[in-house]
Amino acid sequence: MNVQIVEVGPRDGLQNEKELLPAQVKIQLIDKLVAAGLKRVEATSFVNPRWIPQLADAEEVLQGINRPEDVRFSALVPNVRGMERARASGLTEIALFMSASETHNVKNINKSMEETFPVLREVAREALALGMRVRGYVSTVFGCPYEGAVPIDNSRRVTDELLEMGAFEISLGDTIGVATPKQVREVLAAMLRDVPTERLAGHFHDTRGTGMANVAAALDMGLRTFDSSIGGLGGCPYAPGAAGNISTEDLVYLLQGIGYETGVDLNRLVEAGAYIQEQLGRELSSKVLKAELAS
Ligand code: HMG
Ligand code: MG
Repeated sequence: MNVQIVEVGPRDGLQNEKELLPAQVKIQLIDKLVAAGLKRVEATSFVNPRWIPQLADAEEVLQGINRPEDVRFSALVPNVRGMERARASGLTEIALFMSASETHNVKNINKSMEETFPVLREVAREALALGMRVRGYVSTVFGCPYEGAVPIDNSRRVTDELLEMGAFEISLGDTIGVATPKQVREVLAAMLRDVPTERLAGHFHDTRGTGMANVAAALDMGLRTFDSSIGGLGGCPYAPGAAGNISTEDLVYLLQGIGYETGVDLNRLVEAGAYIQEQLGRELSSKVLKAELAS
């Protein structure tokens, strides 16, 4: 496997769905994603259920899924309370997250950026002491829904802090899907001056149709880890207008076409996409899903 895919549909995808889905549907979805060969799955969030009601069933979902040993399951954790819930659910990997822009950070996690660092530091310390892996997300790297352009220095600062806390990998988020390949090259060039490519992942949303072009640019810059969402589900409830993540089906198709190995069986992935599309009762944005179901 020379490109790693982090499937974020069950978390980033479903967190934006207004109608609450039964835990059983999420469990079946995750089992199908794993059956398709995905080895990294962000299954849910341990955030305040009042903020994200859709993922209030995090414990139930993690308890219900098959957990093969060679698959890494993770969940978002915003604070020590979330960390405690993740530990109790038997997770061995968590993901910390914060924004590179002040206003989005406050809207998303109710704290200023400066207030957030010590909270995440404490969570990371506890997780690492328990032998867990810690991933870090930087949101709004390519633009903020409230502030517009975000200085690369902000993203660098957050990246450096998260790495210093012990994160093994930083996922750079285009939360509202505004990035273009030129900007991806610029941001990555600034990051890669001191951060090795294997410590970075691309997290693109396809709001303006540039998602796959951004993946191609990031591949050229040496990145080999990408987040994507089954069917192209997704968005961020605290980023108005953010559409879905790039779709896992489209990503796998692109990567296979270029000659990368992902370990994912596209036919089985399409089955997972078709399943969640049927459960949600509306057509999802994945182009490959649409094409495969039509053929
Ligand atoms: P707060 O309300 O300021 O928290 O929320 P608080 O510490 O004041 O606590 C208030 C109440 O919430 C308390 O309960 C706590 O126990 C409870 P009470 O005493 O009132 O009964 N609480 C919790 N309960 C369960 N689990 C917890 C938890 N924490 C507190 N972990 C907080 C602060 C950070 C918790 C809140 O703002 C929050 O949950 N935010 C999460 C929002 C979110 O999930 N956003 C979407 C994910 S980010 C994203 O999508 C971007 C990304 O995809 C990358 C990209 O695209 O760029 C990652
Ligand atoms: Mg996202």
